[in-house]
Amino acid sequence: MVPPSGHRLLLASALGILAFHCFSRGQKNSTLIFMKENTIRNCSCSADVQDCDYSLANLLCSCQTILPLALEQTSYSDHLTIWFTDAWALGLLLNFTLVRDLKLSLCGTSTLPTEYLAICGLKRLRVNTEARHPSPEQSLLIYSGGESEPREQPVWFPGCMYVSFLDMTLFNRKSSLKAYSIENVASIANNFPYFSYFETFPILSNKSYVVTFIY
Ligand SMILES: *[C@@H]1O[C@H](CO)[C@@H](O)[C@H](O)[C@H]1NC(C)=O
Ligand SMILES: *[C@@H]1O[C@H](CO)[C@@H](O)[C@H](O)[C@H]1NC(C)=O
Ligand SMILES: *[C@@H]1O[C@H](CO)[C@@H](O)[C@H](O)[C@H]1NC(C)=O
Ligand SMILES: *[C@@H]1O[C@H](CO)[C@@H](O)[C@H](O)[C@H]1NC(C)=O
Repeated sequence: MVPPSGHRLLLASALGILAFHCFSRGQKNSTLIFMKENTIRNCSCSADVQDCDYSLANLLCSCQTILPLALEQTSYSDHLTIWFTDAWALGLLLNFTLVRDLKLSLCGTSTLPTEYLAICGLKRLRVNTEARHPSPEQSLLIYSGGESEPREQPVWFPGCMYVSFLDMTLFNRKSSLKAYSIENVASIANNFPYFSYFETFPILSNKSYVVTFIY
């Protein structure tokens, strides 16, 4: 028996609604953290927001203010976007944190100091310095790994095998983003005696690391 066309229409729209639900559930929100006038906002956004558009982010995303003193060591297994204006706030948020996919957008014109930011497990980095000088967004793939992906521990560095050092002065320059990696580094401090940064670096175990410098 052929069902009347009205039923078919109903069925079709029911399927359509179902498909829409599956689609929107499959879409994950992304995390955006931004700092403005000593306030740090942590947002969950379902839509893409144009870099450094604070009011649009407040409008479109679901944001919470976090107090700098209440910042905890966190890890980001997904995509994280940070809009920042100075090294201090960025260090507070990111130094010694596990992040896989990171986008950093400089939203001011200040000159950044010669400091390094240590990031664990970074796979992909995107950088936008448009606020300082007109240039297209740059992107860098640090490692691509599916199966052989290390199982990092999210807190501090003893469990982190992929360590990236990001030279903060890269935001001051117009030159393109560069990186080099050194594999099988057993002890960071012994391998880079002239890199004074490691004197304060909390890695002391002798397992092998992949160390990447981004500059
Ligand atoms: C920001 O919020 C996400 C959840 O949306 C959470 O996983 C993360 O730890 C938060 N980050 C900070 C610095 O509070
Ligand atoms: C996703 O983001 C929207 C705002 O863009 C927000 O209303 C919603 O609560 C967020 N969902 C989750 C799971 O955080
Ligand atoms: C990250 O931490 C190291 C070690 O404490 C410090 O030397 C460095 O300046 C920090 N980087 C930033 C950008 O705050
Ligand atoms: C470091 O390596 C030595 C041998 O090269 C080993 O005896 C020692 O247990 C290792 N220490 C750690 C913390 O893995």
